[in-house]
Formats: sequence, C-alpha cells, structure tokens
Amino acid sequence: MPTREPTDPREHASVDRALQLITAGARAGSSCSSSLTEDPWTFDAIPGYGPGASMSDPIPDDAPRQGSLPPEYRKATDEELHGRILAAKAALGERVVVLGHFYQRDEIVQHADFVGDSFQLANAARTRPAAEAIVFCGVHFMAETADIVSAPHQKVILPNLAAGCSMADMAELDAVTDCWEQLEEIFGSATHRDGCAPVIPVTYMNSSAALKAFVGEHGGIVCTSSNADAVLEWAFERGQRVLFFPDQHLGRNTGRARGIPLTQMPLWNPHLPLGGNTREQLLEARILLWHGFCSVHRRFTVDQIDRARAEYPGAHVIVHPECPMEVVDAADSAGSTDFIVKAISAAPPGSVFAIGTEINLVQRLAAEHPEHTIFCLDPVICPCSTMYRIHPGYLAWVLESLVEGDTVNRITVDPDTAEKAGVALERMLSVAPRPIAGSTSGKGN
Ligand code: 13P
Ligand code: SF4
Repeated sequence: MPTREPTDPREHASVDRALQLITAGARAGSSCSSSLTEDPWTFDAIPGYGPGASMSDPIPDDAPRQGSLPPEYRKATDEELHGRILAAKAALGERVVVLGHFYQRDEIVQHADFVGDSFQLANAARTRPAAEAIVFCGVHFMAETADIVSAPHQKVILPNLAAGCSMADMAELDAVTDCWEQLEEIFGSATHRDGCAPVIPVTYMNSSAALKAFVGEHGGIVCTSSNADAVLEWAFERGQRVLFFPDQHLGRNTGRARGIPLTQMPLWNPHLPLGGNTREQLLEARILLWHGFCSVHRRFTVDQIDRARAEYPGAHVIVHPECPMEVVDAADSAGSTDFIVKAISAAPPGSVFAIGTEINLVQRLAAEHPEHTIFCLDPVICPCSTMYRIHPGYLAWVLESLVEGDTVNRITVDPDTAEKAGVALERMLSVAPRPIAGSTSGKGN
C-alpha cells in the first residue's frame, strides 16, 4: 500500500523507479528478487524467465533467447534512448506502428501508438494495414498472433525475443495432443446426434501459435480474458464439453460464473494417465482444466484483500481472472486489463481501488488518476518478468535498424500453422468482449 505521496506523477509509473525506492528502503516490503534492479540484458543470454514473479518456472529448451544488445544501446542514458526512439519513429512515419500491452513499463507505453489488452492488440494488428512494420511491445504469443492476423506484407517485430510467457509455455503441443487422444478414446470423435462435438478445445490467447492451430483444426476457438465468458457460450453451443488450456484459473473462474460446479471442472495434469482423473470423473466433466497458471497472478491472496479492506474499508477490490478462484470470490469484481482500466475511469472521484494485477498497470493507473487512491494488493513488487524484458534500449535498437533498412527480431509463423491458427483467431475476434458473469456487481460469483 502507498507509504508516501509521489512528487512527480511519473515516479509511480516506472517499475524501475519503484524498485530503486525499495532498494533505498523507501517502501515497505521487499522485492521478489533484488536482480530486478538490473537491466534485462544482464539476463537475456541465460536460460530462464529472468527476475520477477515467474523466475522459478522451468523454461522450455526451445524458448527463444535474445542475442546480445549492441553496447551503444546498453550504455545509453534514459534520455538518450527516449530521443533516439522519437527520432527513429519520426523518420519511419506511417511505415511503422508501435503496439503496447498495458503491462509494459511507462518508458515504452509513452512511445506506443496503441495501448490495450491482448484482444484489443490482436484487433489493432489486424486493422493497421498501412504500416510495413508492427513493433509489438508485449510478449511472444501476442507477436505471433499479430503476425497471423496482419496482412502478408507486414512484418511483426518483438523488440526482445526473450519476452515469452511462462503460462503459455506450460502447455506444449505434444502434451495437448496426447490429452486429446485420451479424450477421444473415452468420448469418441463422432458428432453427437444433437449436432454437438464431444469436446471443443478452447485455448487462452496466452499459448503458442502451434496450439492455436491445433484448436482451429479441431473445431475450437481462442479466448482472451475479456471474452472468455462469451467464448464458453460459443463452445457449449457446439460441443458437450470443453478442454480449456493453459490457464486453469481463467477456465475455472469463467466456468463457475456460468454455474458449472467444481466437480464438473476437473484438472488435467499432463504428467498423469487420464490427467490424474478417473474415467467416471471425465464422463461427468463439462470443462477440463489444463494444469497451467500465471506466476504473477497466483501471488494474490485472500489475506491481501482482507488487509486492504481493513486499512481502506470502502475499497473496491478488482482482480484479473487469472487469479485463483478464492481471490476472485473475495474480490468485488474481476476482469481483463481493459475491464480494470475502464472501471477506474468510470468511478466517481475519491474512490479507493485495491487491484490484483501486474504492477506496471497499477502504478500507471495510480499516476493517471490522482483523484482516486489506487494501490496493488500485493505489497511486494513483482512485475511480469518477461514483459519487463522490453526495455527502451531494445525498442531503440529495432526502430533504428528499420530506419537503416534492417529488420531484426522478426516473428514469423509458418503458413500452415498460421492458416489453421487464423481460423481459431477469427472465431475469437467475432466473439465480442463482455465481462465475466457477475463480475461487475457485488462480491464474488
Ligand atoms: P489481458 O488479456 O487482460 O490483456 O491479459 C493478458 C495477460 O497476459 C494477463 O496476464
Ligand atoms: Fe504471461 Fe502472466 Fe506475464 Fe501475462 S502476466 S504475460 S500470463 S507470465
């Protein structure tokens, strides 16, 4: 919770600055890793997600690694990088569009032509055909999606290839294919006489292009946290049950809001036969939840909510639906990053918000809304360690390379995968965002 007033609004908006304050002892609590005060290139060549909330998750061997950033960018001051990014963007003009996710640091967001949640960014990549290059300041699965939905002449660039997502890496194509084969043995593959398929696969946007292609090929759909409820409705109109991956929490929270009991949402552990379930449990299931999670959002607890309410009795608690179910139940509302942004904008002055999502967004909202009191539920600052990898040094490097006619860090999805994944993504984009049932009013769901 806030312990001092910022003297400069940008002070609260920078994770780097917040981490310096922690180091200087100006804020209660401690960082999850003091390495977060280091620049990202210190970690880029080392296998791992780097410092931050997902640092201890095992990284797959084939996860992309970022090569060394040229020294001129590593040595440049913040002001120099800011000026170089502005100059490169001015030189490129309409030839480039910079997209930024809400979780990006402020030093990046200020250069983005469009900032949004993962649904909005996918749409933004699809609707800006004038730009030859889309510089995607987000994580790898978002850049892959942008490549799939953008026009063939457009190049998508991820400024730091090490910006992955530990949750997306928790579901691999081989493991999902193995699960699918086991489900086919139990439920068959033939369409039921009511016209419904036995199982509809639904993948969260936070997954590889290969998994989106798998889903597209098997009659399924992609969802984001902003349209998961509407996507489940879409899936249940076409199938008897859903295989939901990789995020168990988004699946469980959305399923429960639709009235599905927990007993009908078993967890699928890919390391166990039948996912660790009995045949009978699977026959009863409506949603099979893959054993994945976000390391940032699973840090939020009911205890933190209790403490926030004790200190600020009128506080409105909003959490992202990647948080565990007990946390979503204890909150006043749950929704995507865009839902959180809009809820705060619509509130009367003097409102108090305790937020359960990534710290960059919470700090920016606090700086942009001095009329409210806004703080993060978690007193320990742990940014998403992969979003954090997009540092202005990398943005300056990719933009200046474009000015010189050189495309670095291009993300490409092979045509076959892109075609199949595109089917599932177009289905997703046709399902308009809407809040998870019950998330706008009162407590829990
Ligand atoms: P949104 O879809 O809400 O932008 O979330 C993306 C994400 O990665 C959250 O962890
Ligand atoms: Fe992935 Fe979590 Fe980071 Fe989102 S916040 S990109 S789900 S690790």
